[in-house]
Amino acid sequence: MTLLQIMADSDATDIRLRTSDPAVIAAELNRRGVDFDRWPILETLDATTATDDILAEYAGRIEELNADGRFKFIDLARIHPDAADPEWPAKAAGARGKFLAEHRHAEDEVRFFAAGRGCFYLHLGDEVLATVCEAGDLVSVPAGTLHWFDMGTEPEFVAVRFFEEEDGWIGDFSGNTIGERFPTLDELVVTS
Ligand SMILES: [Fe+2]
Repeated sequence: MTLLQIMADSDATDIRLRTSDPAVIAAELNRRGVDFDRWPILETLDATTATDDILAEYAGRIEELNADGRFKFIDLARIHPDAADPEWPAKAAGARGKFLAEHRHAEDEVRFFAAGRGCFYLHLGDEVLATVCEAGDLVSVPAGTLHWFDMGTEPEFVAVRFFEEEDGWIGDFSGNTIGERFPTLDELVVTS
C-alpha cells in the first residue's frame, strides 16, 4: 500500500499525517515541490519478466516523461529475494545500506516503481515525509533535497530510474544520522 507519513524531524513520534490516499499523498508532496504520479500497473509482472519487456511496456509513459530529453540514461533496477542464494542476506543488507543514510543528489532522483516497494524519507524543513512507494508510483525527489531510502530487510522491487548524467545516482552524504531515529520501511508497513 502506498503510504505517506509526515513526522517532525526532531521527533519521529510526532506524526502529523498518515495517509494511504493517493490524491492526498500527491497533493501533500506537490505543495512541497515533490512530483508524485501514478502509472498503470502491469498485472503480469513477476520476477521472471524480462527487463526489456518491462521497459517496452512503459515506453510510451517514459517517452512522455522524457519529452524534453533531459534524461539521457534510463534503466531498470530490480532486486528479488533468492532463497537459493546463500549470499542473498549479505546482498540484501549491502543493497539496503547504500542509501540508508541521509544524502542528496545533484539532479532529481526520479523513480517509477513497476513492482515491489521502497521508502523515500524526505527531510524538508522541520518535517520528514516517509513516502512508501509501491507498484504504479512515480516519485521525483528534487535535486539538493536531503533524503534517504529504505528498501527493507527483504528488498524486492522493480524500478525504472531516470538519470540526466551517468553518475547522477551518486550521493552527497550529509553525515546526519537522522535516519536511525525514524521507523524503518518494515516498521512503517507493519503498522499500516
Ligand atoms: Fe537518493
